[in-house]
Amino acid sequence: MSAKKVTTATLREMKRKKRSIAMLTAYDYPTACLLDDSGVDVILVGDSLGNVILGHDDTLPVTMEEMLSHAKSVRRGVSSSMIVVDMPFMSYQVSPEAALENAARFIKEAGAQAVKVEGDRYLDAIKSMIKAGIPVMGHLGFTPQLINQIGGYRTAGRSKSDAEAILKASRKLEAAGVFALVLEMVPPLLAKKVARALKVPVIGIGAGPHCDGQVLVTHDMIGLYPRRVPAFVKQYAQVGGQIKKAVSNFVREVQSGKFPGREK
Ligand code: KIV
Repeated sequence: MSAKKVTTATLREMKRKKRSIAMLTAYDYPTACLLDDSGVDVILVGDSLGNVILGHDDTLPVTMEEMLSHAKSVRRGVSSSMIVVDMPFMSYQVSPEAALENAARFIKEAGAQAVKVEGDRYLDAIKSMIKAGIPVMGHLGFTPQLINQIGGYRTAGRSKSDAEAILKASRKLEAAGVFALVLEMVPPLLAKKVARALKVPVIGIGAGPHCDGQVLVTHDMIGLYPRRVPAFVKQYAQVGGQIKKAVSNFVREVQSGKFPGREK
């Protein structure tokens, strides 16, 4: 029997009971099956697919059609985890109407349960999605879609004024109705303050141990991304090394005539 479906209510209850939320990214069917089977609460179809799947330098080139295609394949592999899909760059910035139409596609066409939006600049768009019944997860701290304005990958909220701005933005997002918040690359004490200030769960990435849950990019934590991995990532496996070993064994055995052997 499959486990009960994780919903926004489950996550609220987890925060109330002080049970930490485990969230990871997936972009395809087999990874989604593995994450769902392993008890991950929330699967994020992150626009980090721009980096770890498509090989771009950042998330900015990722399109609605790419996100939809990956979200659909994830959906086919999931029965229990909650699926949240990232709204890609320029899918919610143009107008609240366009944002609502794009968010609705993730729910109707891809079968996601919620969407994620970066920053607090587009509150009207966020409110229009929530009004239509689409749960929205916020994302503050380091927000990768602003990479060109920020000028690089760096910790957010270090100065007193930046920390106050993040706390204020988190309250604004909660008042707008977000069901959870991702807090990326902020000092642990600021994350603790935000997690305490909000009733909704705060899920950290590179934000220390005091959040209501933790999220990582799966390809980073299993050692499947060939480029540099952020320092805050704990690598639980070296899958890239395993694949290389298997593939070079295959190549050697084909070249030497050892494969096919008994399998044929
Ligand atoms: O796109 C993504 O994977 C994300 C996580 C880093 C939270 O937004």
